[in-house]
Amino acid sequence: MEASLKEPSDDDWWRSAAIYQIYVRSFADGDGDGTGDLAGVRARLPYLAELGVDALWFTPWYLSPFADGGYDVADYRSIDPAFGTLVEAEKLISEASEVGIRTIIDIVPNHVSDQHPWFRAALTAGPGSPERELFHFRPGRGEHGELPPNDWPSEFPGAPSWTRVPDGEWYLHLFTPEQPDLNWAHPEVRREHEDVLRFWFERGVAGVRIDSAALLAKDPRLPDFVEGHDPHPFVDRDDLHDIYRSWRAVSDEYGAIFVGEVWLPDAERFARYLRPDELHTAFNFDFLSRRWDAGELRRSIDATLTDHAPVGAPATWVLCNHDVTRTVTRYGRGDTGFAFAAKRFGTPTDIALGTRRARAAALLTLALPGAVYLYQGEELGLPEAELPVDRIQDPMHFRSGGVDPGRDGCRAPLPWVAAAPNYGFCPRAEPWLPQPDGWAPYAADVQAADPGSMLTLYRRALALRRMEPGLGDGPMTWLDAPAAVLAFTRGDGLACLVNLGDAAFELPASAEVLLESGPLDDTGRLPQDTAVWLRI
Ligand code: GLC
Repeated sequence: MEASLKEPSDDDWWRSAAIYQIYVRSFADGDGDGTGDLAGVRARLPYLAELGVDALWFTPWYLSPFADGGYDVADYRSIDPAFGTLVEAEKLISEASEVGIRTIIDIVPNHVSDQHPWFRAALTAGPGSPERELFHFRPGRGEHGELPPNDWPSEFPGAPSWTRVPDGEWYLHLFTPEQPDLNWAHPEVRREHEDVLRFWFERGVAGVRIDSAALLAKDPRLPDFVEGHDPHPFVDRDDLHDIYRSWRAVSDEYGAIFVGEVWLPDAERFARYLRPDELHTAFNFDFLSRRWDAGELRRSIDATLTDHAPVGAPATWVLCNHDVTRTVTRYGRGDTGFAFAAKRFGTPTDIALGTRRARAAALLTLALPGAVYLYQGEELGLPEAELPVDRIQDPMHFRSGGVDPGRDGCRAPLPWVAAAPNYGFCPRAEPWLPQPDGWAPYAADVQAADPGSMLTLYRRALALRRMEPGLGDGPMTWLDAPAAVLAFTRGDGLACLVNLGDAAFELPASAEVLLESGPLDDTGRLPQDTAVWLRI
């Protein structure tokens, strides 16, 4: 039978997928010790199936000292004991697949943990050893080598990128000192990663999220950083494409896909990662960073689609993740855009306003062409948690000198049961990060029973998105509308309208409302910060 539009070939699932990001530590705690784990995820698979997502992306679940929440991997072939075992991961992958959910894992190729056997061996082996060649070790500058080999800025602002070891050499780490950067010019580094990919593809993993995907390749001379100099010494270097071409050859053997974490301002350079023999998809951080403003969002949508078109890759839509401010909080602030450098404690926030907008944004993103990512708790409309400073664990906070609240505010453990201690996350233990007071109304159990909840909105939208052939991958057409209204059609007769302006908007006559993010006004018009899906 020929695949119809309504039943896209299974191989193309990723072009339209709704992918749910699981930050394992905070999703669900199966063994009751206060830390989320694989047993917790397995127990909540029915919840995820009912939510209607196509795949799960797990942030790193490997053995790790957790200097950066698991993005410091000590062994790619074992699961951290806090999360479970390899056997459990295999069970989870197959149980998820039984309920129609694919598994995407997170690979962190730019660096390893300082506890990784390679780095430990490099430290012991000393200067000039082949073990050190797997990393970027250099003598320092200055009379006694007391100055770092270059002035590269850290990806965690405010902190140095080099650390000196007792024998006097320095090693490069774009993130924390516990995350030494690998030398991607070394064939062993490439060989090992391809082997790790195979290890997980053999276990049924359907995709890989590539952490810090544009940072791996370094100028071998490690020159000082010169603002605006092209090429950049460590961002988006041309040699990366060769690495990803060989990864693609591996994934093609298994029919698995990649999604790259590629933060690049230059859209044309960004699209180069999505050429047909490279990565399948990459996160759309341009859209995520935009303010809640119709013109800005529309420009971002247009630019995204224009840049993806020549390489034939589907767009992705992301409103938040484990690194950024939660959507309802961001949209409830004076500045509704996102920038790492702008995060501060105590920013005034109107959560009701942010929630209204986040509901509208949910219908917007789920209606746009391509794949969509949602981050655990987004379907519950969780706000960013304001954590007591002495409970913060994120290195970004410490490395900013305490100025940046860091990323733990979006990592608080999920509330499952309104009436249970710790909202049912871990009824008998202290959760690894505190949950804010007053989260009972956000708990999944009360939202599941409430037709007006964020959870119900997501469930309905995801269900419709699956059924409607026009949604997911495919063309979209803008409709004539005032500048403050985003209005477009998908497929045959489906429209999404989002009103960001203060004037209520008259819906087209004889349109059937399939889903709305909030109530229409008394005369049936679309009020501010509200979205609808229509059959027209
Ligand atoms: C990515 C991850 C982030 C981590 C960093 C270093 O940006 O999303 O959480 O801190 O890489 O691995």
